[in-house]
Amino acid sequence: MDLYEYQARDLFERHGIPVLRGITATTPEQAGEAAAQLGTDVVVVKAQVKTGGRGKAGGVKIARSPQEATEKAREILGLDIKGHVVRRVMVAEGADIAEEYYFSLLLDRASRNYLAMCSKEGGMDIEQLAVERPDALARVEVDPLVGIDDDKAGEILETAGFGTRDAVKIAPVLKKLWQAYHDEDATLVEVNPLVKTADGKILALDGKVTLDENAGFRHPDHEQLVDLESTDPLELRAKAKDLNYVKLDGQVGVIGNGAGLVMSTLDVVAAAGEDLPGQPKPANFLDIGGGASSEVMANGLDIILSDEQVRSVFVNVFGGITACNEVANGIVAALETLGDRATKPLVVRLDGNSVEVGRHILAEYAHPLVTVVDTMDDAARKAAELASSTPSEA
Ligand SMILES: Nc1ncnc2c1ncn2[C@@H]1O[C@H](COP(=O)(O)OP(=O)(O)OP(=O)(O)O)[C@@H](O)[C@H]1O
Ligand SMILES: [Mg+2]
Repeated sequence: MDLYEYQARDLFERHGIPVLRGITATTPEQAGEAAAQLGTDVVVVKAQVKTGGRGKAGGVKIARSPQEATEKAREILGLDIKGHVVRRVMVAEGADIAEEYYFSLLLDRASRNYLAMCSKEGGMDIEQLAVERPDALARVEVDPLVGIDDDKAGEILETAGFGTRDAVKIAPVLKKLWQAYHDEDATLVEVNPLVKTADGKILALDGKVTLDENAGFRHPDHEQLVDLESTDPLELRAKAKDLNYVKLDGQVGVIGNGAGLVMSTLDVVAAAGEDLPGQPKPANFLDIGGGASSEVMANGLDIILSDEQVRSVFVNVFGGITACNEVANGIVAALETLGDRATKPLVVRLDGNSVEVGRHILAEYAHPLVTVVDTMDDAARKAAELASSTPSEA
């Protein structure tokens, strides 16, 4: 889960990392009030979107009065930054910046280790710096069992070319950033810029944090960081039911067991739809997992059938731990629950564990919307054809 800058700021503050005060606002007027409340000569109005390059896109602006903050917020709110529409700004105290540095700590999957990156040349173009002058960006591995202690902080800062005087000031901040990274189970903590102010203080002026959702069970407080406003409502419903669902932009609903099977089902459906009128595509990813009960199947179908874009559904199950009779019962249960609301055709391909029982259940039930097809390719073609010829509700 990626955090917004203001959430990262709060998290940094809780871990004792030096940050400036910031107040969020969703209207220009609120931004003006926030600036008045901060009471500093200069404030910075910053777009809160989960993407980089906000400054360059006009999403970070200086204001010298509450009135100016209102105006800047009016310019920034509603702005589209790389497909992210700005719905909230943070009004932050203005810093008197002397130097801008870069620091990040991340999980480096390639080396199966943590990696710290640091540069004396922080600011807005770190990606460009990494490509054009890789030497200016220090890369230092961090042992997860040791973390960033005095020695490691010294090594990182020396490799990045900092002199002793600056290193002494920055090292405690790096140690705290490590502590935040570790204690919160983050996979990324990035501060760009980490600044030195004119009076020699070190401050984290921007923060990007990614939290590892797999560790969510250790952090009940992370729940409140979930971004309900911009998460798709169907994804929220699926999450509440513990379903592994991702909304996509097509017309063929897909349910399968096992992420690998579902991924390949998406490919097969997309390929089958290519030559058809309207070029139907997969509408979602939904993995009901191994050993799914009929209830899970029914919940999954319910979510997919609520997607107005969906015109047909492909249920592709290879029965291993998940027995096909459970899947068939789940389909029946879902159709029973939905009653008249079930209006979309289902193409079902069952194979593996208890396939005969499963097919028998569906044959007995003989629902007019359900077609059982033997192979994955044929079933994908059938589902795509149905999506191509069935008019959409949306
Ligand atoms: N509180 C602040 N006071 C003074 N200047 C600031 C403040 N916050 C940001 N700036 C200036 O604005 C620049 C851009 O800000 P920031 O790093 O938050 O956005 P960005 O880098 O454009 O966005 P992203 O990190 O998403 O790419 C900073 O490099 C800094 O020079
Ligand atoms: Mg930045």
